[in-house]
Amino acid sequence: MDRLDVTEIFEGISFPGHLHTLESLQFAISFPFQDQDILIVSYPKSGTTWVQEMVTLICSRGDPSLTQSVPNWARAPWLEHYYCASVLGAASLRSSLHFRNPKDVVVSFYHFHKMANFLPEAETFEEFLKKFLMGTLSYGSWFDHVKGWTCQTATLENLLHLTYEEMKQTTYKTNIIKVSSFLQHPLLEEEVNNCVQHCSFSSMKNNNMVNYTLVSDHIMDHSKGCFMRKGKTGDWKNLFTEEQNHYFNDFFKSNMQDCALDFVWEV
Ligand code: A3P
Repeated sequence: MDRLDVTEIFEGISFPGHLHTLESLQFAISFPFQDQDILIVSYPKSGTTWVQEMVTLICSRGDPSLTQSVPNWARAPWLEHYYCASVLGAASLRSSLHFRNPKDVVVSFYHFHKMANFLPEAETFEEFLKKFLMGTLSYGSWFDHVKGWTCQTATLENLLHLTYEEMKQTTYKTNIIKVSSFLQHPLLEEEVNNCVQHCSFSSMKNNNMVNYTLVSDHIMDHSKGCFMRKGKTGDWKNLFTEEQNHYFNDFFKSNMQDCALDFVWEV
């Protein structure tokens, strides 16, 4: 299948032109936020969709009607997508900042490149890993993203730091209670349980409104993989060679010295 390989360069970062235009990117950085808005910030493949689902369910008090009838991109839109300007009237600020360990991010991103025709064709994992470390993949450098957000937001109180690994380590119930308290949206026990049920990996994998099967094969080739792929921590061990792992560890050490975050590499 032909690739939709148009690229948009914005502030030195390349974006898939199928989803982003200069206008939409400009729109995102100058967005007029309002106090009630909720913002989810993450690097691709960090579990963004999971948090989108949790937030939608919390705001719906555990009622799945919305998550089962409206595609996730319409109920929790990406500001930088071209269609946002027309979808959103206004959108400030309770923000959740979501991180995942970068070895699992690069592996998830690699598999995603195979199915997502709007991203450049993934070559070998070796080549892909080099580009990830150099920050030349679409959406830019994971390292710059994490360092930029952690330095700039260290003192903000209306910001919740979440990590994929922490969310996997604790129960789904703990995650829902944590995010709902942060959003000042307390839920009854039964509502929490409903949220838990509907944002589990298996529920999301089976929900067409969030598993991206609504997207045509021309854009995401579903014969080449699933968006809801494994949902695990530590899958990097199945792809990284020992040499790649050493190289990655050295690179990580020298580039993340000034970052206070501790990453968990497997659960
Ligand atoms: P894998 O490819 O490792 O399976 P994003 O939404 O930022 O693109 O991230 C996608 C990753 O989050 C995929 O990882 C996907 O399987 C995982 N994911 C999505 N929903 C999840 C859930 N409910 N529980 C655990 N992982 C989930």
